[in-house]
Amino acid sequence: MRFDIITIFPSLFDSYLSQGLIEKACRDKKIEVNVHDLRCWANDKHKTVDDKPFGGGIGMVMKVDPIYKAVKEIKKNKGKQKVILFSPRGRRFNQKKASNFADYDQIIMICGRYEGVDERVAKYIADEEVSIGSYVLMGGDLPAMIVLETVSRLVPGVIGKENFLEERRKESAFIEYPHYTRPEKITINGKERVVPDVLRSGDHKKIEKWREKKGKTIK
Ligand code: ADE
Repeated sequence: MRFDIITIFPSLFDSYLSQGLIEKACRDKKIEVNVHDLRCWANDKHKTVDDKPFGGGIGMVMKVDPIYKAVKEIKKNKGKQKVILFSPRGRRFNQKKASNFADYDQIIMICGRYEGVDERVAKYIADEEVSIGSYVLMGGDLPAMIVLETVSRLVPGVIGKENFLEERRKESAFIEYPHYTRPEKITINGKERVVPDVLRSGDHKKIEKWREKKGKTIK
């Protein structure tokens, strides 16, 4: 599966992509991630990607033409592709949407910045406007990392566990029961905190029941 991220801050992704399971997934060729600097598709020598809004108002608006050129060049004509524009106005991203996105061969993510993005991007270039939550961020770069990570987990071989297939089928994720490891006892702020008895009982049936009760499903 291939992800293409269009941003004006490509270096924000350097550290994120160079560590942990995402780095491993790229190395193992389970996923391919390409980060593109939108300024490469700017029309002028100053690499301008924003302009004043028609009708007046404060702030700058991201121009449609560099984004259009970028998407046209990046989009492969092979397999299933989806173009996402991040915006707080978009449809809410959740586990079900992640499961749906995991069926695509190429996901192109446009990270908006400034006060907004020319509306023609949402209307005629993106397939979907996506919001990661009901709050306003400074841009779409963090949302792109969140979507990349959530969808990558569902690509076979990216995480060690085999339950990703189940998560994809059910479009929900079983969030595990609480975990404990050594020490068995620890004093925190003057009170002794211990590992639940059941986990030390050695009774696997009981443990399984407890874990089922304490687990949670994310939809
Ligand atoms: N850009 C700014 N806020 C956002 C949000 N909540 N989700 C997606 N993109 C955004």
